[in-house]
Amino acid sequence: MSDLPGFFPGTEMPTAGWWPALWPDPAAVLAAIGVVRGMDVVDLCCGDGWFTAPLAAIARRVTAVDLDPKFLDAARARVGAIGAENCTFVAGDAYDIATLAPRPVDYVLMANAFHGVPDAARLARAVTRILKPGGRFGVINWHKRPRTETPAMGEPRGPATELRLSPDETAAKVAPAGLALARLVELPPYHYGAIFAAG
Ligand SMILES: C[S@@+](CC[C@H](N)C(=O)[O-])C[C@H]1O[C@@H](n2cnc3c(N)ncnc32)[C@H](O)[C@@H]1O
Repeated sequence: MSDLPGFFPGTEMPTAGWWPALWPDPAAVLAAIGVVRGMDVVDLCCGDGWFTAPLAAIARRVTAVDLDPKFLDAARARVGAIGAENCTFVAGDAYDIATLAPRPVDYVLMANAFHGVPDAARLARAVTRILKPGGRFGVINWHKRPRTETPAMGEPRGPATELRLSPDETAAKVAPAGLALARLVELPPYHYGAIFAAG
């Protein structure tokens, strides 16, 4: 567990090796959740940039936010490796997204972190503040299955079973902020994408 103040429980970056095995084609995941060329996007809790780099390859602008500067450095290197120059890296707390990424954006992606947010309603309100009308909040979550049933490279992986959220539970947490479930997509083997639309 990170000792950074404000760190969301159960959202540590995976140990090296098995993330690429689980997500061999992050660009295809982005396409599946409705990220399209030319969008302005925030990658919230971007980690080491596994999704940030393919986002930068298609988006107009990307703001990558993470609490942990060392992961931002890794994400910066990953984006640099593809030669993209349209990405800004911001160290900060996801709750503060409205001040960290002030421009209205088309899409906010939160992959593999929403399950750990203690006050999801607060986070959803902050996300709503930076979305354009009709903008999307894409949440990629582990399915609500026992951790023992989601192995990768021979070991149980992902957040503790009790932290995992079903699509309905996720939708109930963001609905009060005015975000309606627009689409649900399967992201095999263990994830789903819940895509919410701002009013
Ligand atoms: C499991 S990783 C997922 C990274 C990336 N989204 C992916 O799917 O590859 C979760 C990330 O959330 C970050 N994080 C945890 N608490 C945070 C907070 N309060 N604000 C911003 N980032 C946070 C962690 O530093 C970590 O990099």
